Amino acid sequence: MPETHLRITENMRFLKDSFGFDPLETRRQVVGLVGLRPGRRVLEVGTGDGWTATILAEAGFEVVGIDLDPDALRSARRQRAHLAPGLYHRMRFRCVDATELPFTTGCFDAVFCYCVIHHMDDCVTAVREMARVCKPSGVVVIADLNTAGLRVARAAMARHGEGHEENACRPSWIATLLAAEGFTAERYDLDFVTAFLVRGLRPHQRPQTCVAKTAACCAMREVRA
Ligand SMILES: C[S@@+](CC[C@H](N)C(=O)[O-])C[C@H]1O[C@@H](n2cnc3c(N)ncnc32)[C@H](O)[C@@H]1O
Repeated sequence: MPETHLRITENMRFLKDSFGFDPLETRRQVVGLVGLRPGRRVLEVGTGDGWTATILAEAGFEVVGIDLDPDALRSARRQRAHLAPGLYHRMRFRCVDATELPFTTGCFDAVFCYCVIHHMDDCVTAVREMARVCKPSGVVVIADLNTAGLRVARAAMARHGEGHEENACRPSWIATLLAAEGFTAERYDLDFVTAFLVRGLRPHQRPQTCVAKTAACCAMREVRA
């Protein structure tokens, strides 16, 4: 098993045993909020090692997982290749930047972005792109660590003598961003994660082409111990 995958697995066990934060169960809860029927086409933005992609495939969706990091995608493909063929064949992984999605407007039934916003350089453009590629009848799900989630994530990293990579984006900031973009979002506050569901996208909220990058909303990267 590659080291990063082992590290993630070990961190997830630590979070569950030490704080009662079960990262896989939380992902399932977020996926369950959407109430989509199996067979739908779903984009997962910032798929990393493919944990959420797997949960989406288990729920019966056809999943495209995208990430900037080719190493993470290699790991995702390697780990997921051991799953039952029916499951693995429902997942595709592509190396893509969330701010320039190479997909046509309105081609996904749902777009998931789980615990990625606090890693992003340009969340505004990424959120616009997610809305663009989602069908008007679809749903965009943006879920991220809240204050408690960030605190325990920092604790997990500190055991390895490392900081937790995070920008200044927090759930309150995501709520403000969605409102400023004209989206109406349902908000779900779980113990360690806050999820926003945006439904009923109107065409004017889904520009045909990728908009120019805005001034980085939260470009200042912080690494907190
Ligand atoms: C904490 S991981 C999230 C993993 C995954 N969503 C899950 O549920 O397991 C964050 C991922 O976001 C990716 N990422 C950050 N900015 C991105 C961008 N602009 N486009 C695509 N992926 C991005 C990182 O490379 C990293 O793999």
